[in-house]
Amino acid sequence: MTTVLFVHGFPFDHLMWRHQIAALTRWHCLAPDLRGAGAAVTSFAVADYSMAAYADDLIALLDRSQVRQAVVCGLSMGGYIAFELLRRFPQRVLATILCNTKAEADTADGKRGRDALAARVQRGGATAAAAELVPKLLAPPTRERRPDVVREVQTMIDRQPVAGIVGALHALRERPDSTPLLAQINVPVLVLAGADDQIAPVGGMEAMAKAIPGAEFAVIREAGHLSPLEQPREVNAAVVTFLEKLR
Ligand code: MLT
Repeated sequence: MTTVLFVHGFPFDHLMWRHQIAALTRWHCLAPDLRGAGAAVTSFAVADYSMAAYADDLIALLDRSQVRQAVVCGLSMGGYIAFELLRRFPQRVLATILCNTKAEADTADGKRGRDALAARVQRGGATAAAAELVPKLLAPPTRERRPDVVREVQTMIDRQPVAGIVGALHALRERPDSTPLLAQINVPVLVLAGADDQIAPVGGMEAMAKAIPGAEFAVIREAGHLSPLEQPREVNAAVVTFLEKLR
């Protein structure tokens, strides 16, 4: 059975993939909480957080699960980690699904924004991150018509440990530029964009897909940055079609 390794974004946990895990009954799904997220142990120093460390944790999980190769499905920060896996452990990646993500590193302004958010979270807890991020994360139709999804995302951010959020912000600000990798990716790739994503806009995602040889590209309507939670049916359909072609 093919394994799909779901890698969540920031500042979330594995439950952001709950609709996909429920739907993919014909695949072996692994959906861990990354270090410092959800229920994962948080006894790490800030410097212990990096895309490389997250990737090493995932390889250790694949080893423990006796999985030689997996389809890596990452959203946003999960996509940055998928790039790290492709760069350092290409033989462990059977195919990749890149949701709502981008290949570029942070700009100087972006890095300042990470530091400012880390300071606000240290003062005000995870709620400070939820207050800042939720309006940017969700598409207008989700914010206006799906109070259940808004609440779910708010609650998910609220329960994240402060140390894990601050550590992830450090990893995000220090992440490498993955654009030089794109042309070298030689596994099947599906790129999924949210039509209303403010954080990884459609235009950039389409350009990224074009830079990856043979990559498929699809836009999820009425979805922001969290398309797997905002439009699970459409995302599941695209993911299943892609996975079936790998068989
Ligand atoms: C995420 O969803 O993982 C974040 O938006 C990533 C980022 O802030 O770069």
